[in-house]
Amino acid sequence: MKIISANWVVTCDENNSIIKNGAVVFDDKIIEIDTLLNIEKKYPNIEILNLEDNSVLMPGLINSHVHLEFSSNTTTLKYGNFMSWLNSVIKNRDDLINKADKKLISTKLDRMKKTGTTTIGAISSYSFDMEPCVKSPINTVFFCEVIGSKGDMVDTLFADFKDRLKNAKKFKSKNFIPAIAIHSPYSVHPFLVRETLNLARVENLAVSSHFLESPEEFDWLHKDEGLFLDFFKNFLGQEKAVSKPMEFLNLFSNIKNLSFTHCVEASEADLEKIKSLGASINHCVMSNRVLNNSKLDLSKLEDIPFTIGTDGLSSNNSLSMFDELRNALMVHYDKNVIDFSKVLLKAATLNGARALGLNKGSLEKDLDSDMIAFTLPDEVEDMEDLPMQIILHTKFVDKTIIGGEFV
Ligand code: BEZ
Ligand code: FE2
Repeated sequence: MKIISANWVVTCDENNSIIKNGAVVFDDKIIEIDTLLNIEKKYPNIEILNLEDNSVLMPGLINSHVHLEFSSNTTTLKYGNFMSWLNSVIKNRDDLINKADKKLISTKLDRMKKTGTTTIGAISSYSFDMEPCVKSPINTVFFCEVIGSKGDMVDTLFADFKDRLKNAKKFKSKNFIPAIAIHSPYSVHPFLVRETLNLARVENLAVSSHFLESPEEFDWLHKDEGLFLDFFKNFLGQEKAVSKPMEFLNLFSNIKNLSFTHCVEASEADLEKIKSLGASINHCVMSNRVLNNSKLDLSKLEDIPFTIGTDGLSSNNSLSMFDELRNALMVHYDKNVIDFSKVLLKAATLNGARALGLNKGSLEKDLDSDMIAFTLPDEVEDMEDLPMQIILHTKFVDKTIIGGEFV
């Protein structure tokens, strides 16, 4: 049993409770959380690690959507338009993937840890990122991705997907959890969607899919037209989308831990459906910005929880969750900066954990002991300002605890 205390204990629970001069008693799970005074009285014989002035202790951040296999991109890919980006991904994919070797991916994971991330939802296209994820102390929900819209390829693609999933399952542990990603409604044949979802149901695996990220995707899926038409004609010899958005969503019934990424072009009916599926939305604000996609209209989500994902370095300049939170704060300039900061911290912790099906994301009794500690540059007078000041001022963390261990 260990005890750690900080000037500010930011729980990220449902009520955004913050304890001034608080302490957390923990082993691999959180045992108790209270004021330092009460904890000192209750545990007089246990040494307490007292963090310095202006210290903050909070749950580790959860990056619910990242593609580590694209970690070598910096200036290669074309931004500013979804189609130009997609074409540049296809052109440069092999080079980028080859450059993102295990060493590079491990370096990125280590930097993610230093910037406050304790859990990731890693979308893996080829499993080239599996070994670095298994070796990292960061918790990984490892989403083996299925992709391919061509009918004559589905058997081969399904066999390859099942192989990758089977391999990932060999490494299953409390901090490496195999899961299933379906690339998108435009790129995955309904047969593959149906079969992979059946597997997810039988094996109770978390599922995630990109959904309606760009206007081009909207035009293609709804009307079989727009810039995707040329792309599909040239690359795949197709003139019609394989699914309509609602047909695609209808396939996802009875998936316990389900999330859809982006959804910036989702209609009200789509959002209604996403809500009834009990799914979350992975919000990747920087990716949407650099590809000049729309800004997710958070006011339309109502009861749909949203999480924070950086997406990959294929559409971001950073995998730091604090960078991403600052970006979210700046892009959603219509929201009150103080109130929205509270919403964002919860999105980056508790909501992320729920989307991934994990028993963590908040400093509450019986949840996993995944915590980060860091120090603000000066005092904060009004507790209300704390989430905003944390987002504005934190670049690196001083301490990381995962599953009760300092890592
Ligand atoms: C496909 O295999 O159908 C596909 C892959 C990537 C982008 C678009 C479509
Ligand atoms: Fe993505």
